[in-house]
Amino acid sequence: MADTNARHRALFEPFQLGAKSLRNRILMTPLSVCYATGDGYVSNQMIQHYGRRAAGGAAMIIVENMAVDTSGRQLPRQALIDGRDRLPKLTELAAEIKRHGAVAIVQIVHAGRYAGPWDEYESRRRLAPSAIGFPLLPGLRVTPQEITTEEIEAAVQSFAYSAALAEEAGFDGVEIHGAQGFLISSFQSPRMNLRVDDYGREPNKFPLRVIDAVRAAVSPEFLVGYHLFAGELMPGGWDADDAIAFSTLLPDHGVDFVIPMVSTFESLRAEANVGLFGRPQFQRDVSSQIARACSAPVFTNGQLADPDLAADIVMAGEAAMVGLGRPILADPEWPIKVRDGRLDEIVACACHPPRCLQTQLAGVVCSAWPSSAQDCGFLGYETSEELAHGS
Ligand SMILES: Cc1cc2nc3c(=O)[nH]c(=O)nc-3n(C[C@H](O)[C@H](O)[C@H](O)COP(=O)(O)O)c2cc1C
Ligand code: SF4
Repeated sequence: MADTNARHRALFEPFQLGAKSLRNRILMTPLSVCYATGDGYVSNQMIQHYGRRAAGGAAMIIVENMAVDTSGRQLPRQALIDGRDRLPKLTELAAEIKRHGAVAIVQIVHAGRYAGPWDEYESRRRLAPSAIGFPLLPGLRVTPQEITTEEIEAAVQSFAYSAALAEEAGFDGVEIHGAQGFLISSFQSPRMNLRVDDYGREPNKFPLRVIDAVRAAVSPEFLVGYHLFAGELMPGGWDADDAIAFSTLLPDHGVDFVIPMVSTFESLRAEANVGLFGRPQFQRDVSSQIARACSAPVFTNGQLADPDLAADIVMAGEAAMVGLGRPILADPEWPIKVRDGRLDEIVACACHPPRCLQTQLAGVVCSAWPSSAQDCGFLGYETSEELAHGS
């Protein structure tokens, strides 16, 4: 094994997060590859996909968002974490990630206004703080329904129940998806929440109720992370100052780590934001401001695949850990290759527009994989040799 370049050593310092010891400062951010079964069960393909990423050396794997109930499910092959019948496959998934020495976290979500299926959008209830229309797809404007107080209570309970299931399945923690315009963050958007009740007057009320309910449903050692709405990037929307102020509340509600994320599905289509995910370090500034304000560890992400840049961020204390989504989808061994100084062997994530985003409905395929993996639709263990040899 070659040595880590001195320049990158900061990335390989261990990190203590609550009761968990992390082997380095690299995590895989949640990235919906949508390999679950049509009825929402974790599949063997999904277990191999995440096992392979854990084997590649990341200290923490955050499994893509799973819906807390069917009303909050967005994509046709998205997993659900809503009942005890899900436990056997969830347990296998958590065990497979941990078997390779990574901390296993699962992200939990209610998609709110973005819930699927999207054809015949208005044929069933899509839950949002207010019934405000928006462009779901180019040329398709839709309107969600205003969530009732009973439905708010049910959603809070669904998050808590999902977190308890995740703990029973053997995960080390959950990450609550509080960003990107899904149900939780839609309460914080002045553009999406025009309610006149407490949930309108206090935009943080629903997010904090979810966090409190999740924390109460799990043991003190179980990690509770929060994917933080770091800015809507739209005029009159939730902004960086709102996000910074909100982040300071989270540690007192038992949040163990925070991952900032800017944008919503709608704002990514606004002219100023088109191609945002392709811009180098596109949310580094806001993320480091949040890290300065919030007393919980903040993990940054967003186009940070240059090992020099990632190491600089950790060394400067801008973030406790660096998250990689697409770079680890493209090359699961990114962490090990950087650790061993084999930088020239890294298979780069570099396609525009991202094929991974375009293939989500049927199950993500990445342009950087060897052709055999592209043909079979995923990169699991069996194709590892081929990736190493660039076939
Ligand atoms: C295909 C795809 C699926 C994603 N799925 C999720 C998800 O389930 N939850 C989430 O919080 N972020 C999701 N993201 C965002 C990534 O986790 C990450 O924040 C983003 O891609 C920027 O980081 P990167 O440049 O390292 O990929 C997704 C991104 C892509 C491209
Ligand atoms: S190479 Fe393309 S398809 Fe693969 S992760 Fe990167 S953007 Fe997505």
